[in-house]
Amino acid sequence: MTTSFSGKKALVCGASQGIGWSTAQILADQGAQVTLLARTEERLKTLVNELNGSGHSYLAVDLHDTEALTKALQNQSNDFDILILNAGGPKGGSLLEAKDEEYLESFRTHILANATLVKSIAPHMKSKNYGRIVHIISTSVKAVIPNLGVSNTIRGAVANWSKTLSMELAPFGITVNNVLPGYTKTPRLEKLITATASRLGQSESEVSQMWKDKVPSLRFAEPEEVAHAVVFLASEVAGYINGVNLPVDGGRTPSL
Ligand SMILES: NC(=O)c1ccc[n+]([C@@H]2O[C@H](COP(=O)([O-])OP(=O)(O)OC[C@H]3O[C@@H](n4cnc5c(N)ncnc54)[C@H](OP(=O)(O)O)[C@@H]3O)[C@@H](O)[C@H]2O)c1
Repeated sequence: MTTSFSGKKALVCGASQGIGWSTAQILADQGAQVTLLARTEERLKTLVNELNGSGHSYLAVDLHDTEALTKALQNQSNDFDILILNAGGPKGGSLLEAKDEEYLESFRTHILANATLVKSIAPHMKSKNYGRIVHIISTSVKAVIPNLGVSNTIRGAVANWSKTLSMELAPFGITVNNVLPGYTKTPRLEKLITATASRLGQSESEVSQMWKDKVPSLRFAEPEEVAHAVVFLASEVAGYINGVNLPVDGGRTPSL
């Protein structure tokens, strides 16, 4: 099996930390020219120099700001072979407490941003009859997670958008797949543990242990373990895998 990315250009969204950053590192290690996208320019400036290889760049833009994203994409060539769609997770909380604005905000960041990116990048992929689009979503696509009302709602919509897109783009040699992470050791998970510990009046280590006990593998994932699945789906050899949801969750999701 070859997973060399030599000669391939990749745009990795949500690339300044966590799963996105791990994905960018592995792609660069394997020869891809990587563009990192996130909001925090200072961090991207530093990180782009930490990637192996040459020709890497960054794009500092807020995926929630559709107008800024459109403008940023108009100012560059968008000749990417690989697009990794990823951003911070939508806000938690119950549906009855969710404000209208929370739905609209996450719709912009997770659906309109994806649509804007794909409209800019798919024409190049089509012209080459080759492309790989991978979404990093959540296992809530398969089994909803309590107290993540708006998030569950948007994640389901993103997965359906993605499946529809996979059918539209398949005739052009482009695949669209979703990776669904379980508990993964990233800054996001740390924040969730802290917030849950405070809500339940427990210590952070008690919350961590409670969550690990829910995973058949009895541990959290390293970010690289999720990123390797993303990179495989972004590789040439994965060309006949299309429109799937792949949980990388240590076996936690209780459905097929
Ligand atoms: N970690 C887990 O346990 C877990 C479990 C299930 C699902 N997931 C999902 O998997 C995805 C990645 O998770 P993660 O843990 O790696 O997340 P993370 O540590 O929170 O990292 C999110 C990345 O996205 C960027 N980002 C956030 N909002 C953005 C915006 N509006 N525009 C542009 N960039 C934005 C952040 O950088 P800036 O702040 O600089 O913009 C950062 O680079 C998320 O959707 C998360 O909900 C994670």
